[in-house]
Amino acid sequence: MFEKFSLVPPDPILKLIVEHKNDTRSNKIDLGVGVFRDASGKTPIMGVVKEAERYLLDTQQSKAYIGLAGDADFNLAMQNLILDQSVTDDRFATIQTAGGSTSLRVAIELIRKSTKDLTVWVSEPTWNNHIPILDSVGVNVDIYPYYDVINNQLNFEGFIECLNNIPSGDVVLLHACCHNPTGMDPTPEQWQEITEVIAKRKIIPLIDNAYQGLANGLSEDAFAIKLMAEKVDEMLIASSCSKNFGLYRDRAGTLTIVSENAKTNLHARSHALKIIRTMCSVPPDHGCAVVSHILNNNELRDRWIIELGEVKDRLKEMRVLLNQALNDRTADFDSSHLTKANGMFSYLGVNSEQVQEMKIKHGVYMEGAGRINLAGITKENVNALADAIIDVL
Ligand code: LMR
Repeated sequence: MFEKFSLVPPDPILKLIVEHKNDTRSNKIDLGVGVFRDASGKTPIMGVVKEAERYLLDTQQSKAYIGLAGDADFNLAMQNLILDQSVTDDRFATIQTAGGSTSLRVAIELIRKSTKDLTVWVSEPTWNNHIPILDSVGVNVDIYPYYDVINNQLNFEGFIECLNNIPSGDVVLLHACCHNPTGMDPTPEQWQEITEVIAKRKIIPLIDNAYQGLANGLSEDAFAIKLMAEKVDEMLIASSCSKNFGLYRDRAGTLTIVSENAKTNLHARSHALKIIRTMCSVPPDHGCAVVSHILNNNELRDRWIIELGEVKDRLKEMRVLLNQALNDRTADFDSSHLTKANGMFSYLGVNSEQVQEMKIKHGVYMEGAGRINLAGITKENVNALADAIIDVL
């Protein structure tokens, strides 16, 4: 049967890891896959994570199954983190998932189980893996305008106009903060307007919450989620602990289902659990147990907030640094958008040929459309990076 297969091209983001690793140039720069790096270029394990792991090693008595929904303490702590403890009611259910991507997959399977002919709308552009996940479930996909690549800013008018024409009952996939790949987020006022249209038109928000805490703070970054949870009847929130706890390979995340009332919530939750059962039987525990220990221990939680704040600040600092280095070299390339965007990524403002040239000529690696991971920049490589950018422009 395998002779029927042709070769699947490698994932455009993940292949950069290998390409960069195989590049023997000592001055190569990795602005590819979305992992955090500190000022020395390393992806550290957070101090609080190490401590929680030590605690688990010493105290965990069993590796027996916990259950389909995962650990209740973890789920509640995550729900409070996402919804800011301001609203806890039986319209919400949070279940443990193997990272944010599995959460998205379960959410979309759940949507499709309910209605076969709806469309899921994604931003143009969106994370490289969104459309493949949607396609693998077999839902209709369409795009809404989001980013103006000419002026490197949000295309808010286009976005709102499109939302106003999306049929009721369709799903709109939104990024809670740190839009991947552009880093450009709506302002709180714009989120108000988006929420009004969504609520009025009875569109269902599916929110990808992969970067909470990396833009402006934990509570600030959940602004859109909290607002929508108050205003809409139904929504789904896929949260990831990969970036804000640095637990990438441990696959920790949650799916939060918001529905009209306790009964519909219970029913929707039961279907989500059935999907999980056929997908991975039960969710993995280790990363979630680490997060649970941190969030449920005041001292560790406080220290985590400080460590996460350092991640956020470093990303902001690198935005300023690269913008400055480019301004020092030319007045012809406006890179001010770098300092207006949030989180790990920005569109640099170069085309795909220039991306290739940067890789081949200068050993600078970034995703094909010119998405850069700000965490790959250091005080040591920023000048070489700015020179490379100017060279290809
Ligand atoms: C990214 O966008 O680079 C990260 O979310 C990693 C991934 O899996 O694509």
